[in-house]
Amino acid sequence: MTTQDRITSADLLAMKRDGEKVSVLTAYDVSFAKIMDDCGIDVVLVGDSLGNVVQGHDSTLPVTMDDMAYHTRLVSRGIKHALLVADLPYHSYESVEAAVSNAQRLMAAGAQMVKLEGGVKLLPMLEALQQEGIPVCGHLGLLPQSVEELGGYKVQGRDAASADVILKDAMALEAAGVSMIVLECIPSALAKKISHVIKIPTIGIGAGVDCDGQVLVVYDMLGITRGKRPRFVRDFLAEVGGQVEDKVSAAIKNYISAVKQGRFPDDAQSYQ
Ligand code: KIV
Repeated sequence: MTTQDRITSADLLAMKRDGEKVSVLTAYDVSFAKIMDDCGIDVVLVGDSLGNVVQGHDSTLPVTMDDMAYHTRLVSRGIKHALLVADLPYHSYESVEAAVSNAQRLMAAGAQMVKLEGGVKLLPMLEALQQEGIPVCGHLGLLPQSVEELGGYKVQGRDAASADVILKDAMALEAAGVSMIVLECIPSALAKKISHVIKIPTIGIGAGVDCDGQVLVVYDMLGITRGKRPRFVRDFLAEVGGQVEDKVSAAIKNYISAVKQGRFPDDAQSYQ
C-alpha cells in the first residue's frame, strides 16, 4: 500500500486477499487523526466510543448524530490517506429513512463509510444504503449500543447456538453488500472461522489474532484511558521511550506493525 492515495474498500479487499492485515484506530479530533494518518494507519474510525472516552459517559447510548457529525468533520480535516469510517449512533438507524438520511449526513461531514451495529435485523437498512451507494461497515459480537439487552460488556458467542447466530449474521451482512465487519469480544476460534468463511475483511477487537485486521480505541492503546482496562487492550505507549509526541507516534507505528505481522493480539488479549 502506498502512502499517496486514499484507501478504498477495494484496497481492503485486496489486503485480505494478499494476507496483509488492516490496521484501524479510532480518532475524535484532527490532531490525533493527522498523527495516525502520517504513521500510515489504514482506517480511522470516528467511533461512538467518544461517548465514553471524550464525553465521560459510561456507555455510547447518549451520543447523538450532532456529536458524530461534528467529530467526523474534525477528523476528516486531518486525513489524507486512511479510509474514514464513522459510527451511526444509538437510535439513528431504526428506520430505513433515518438510516439513509443520517448516513448521508456523516458522508457529507467527510466519512467514506458508516458503521452500524447488528445482524439480519438491519437488512432493510443495508439494502437502502446500498441503493444510495453508501459503503457500510458491520459490527457483530458485543454491541455496545445494545449493552442493556446484552446484560453488560461480556464476551459473546461462547456457546454453539450464539456462535452460529454471529456466523450467520456475518454471512448475511456480506450478502447485503457490507464492505467489512468489526467483530467485538468473541472467542478467537469463532472470529477465525468467520474470517475464513466470508470474503470481506473482519476487524477484531477482543476477537483474536486471526481477524483480517485489528481496531483499538486510541486512548486505550496509549494508556490514556483511566479505570479498569478491558483484557483486549494493550498499552503500546508504555512500551516505547522518548518525548510524549514521539512516544505517541512510535506507539502507533508499533501497533501498526504488530497488527500487520500478526503479533497483536496474542493470547493475553484474546478469549479462549
Ligand atoms: O465506537 C468505537 O470506537 C467502536 C470500536 C471500538 C470498534 O465501535
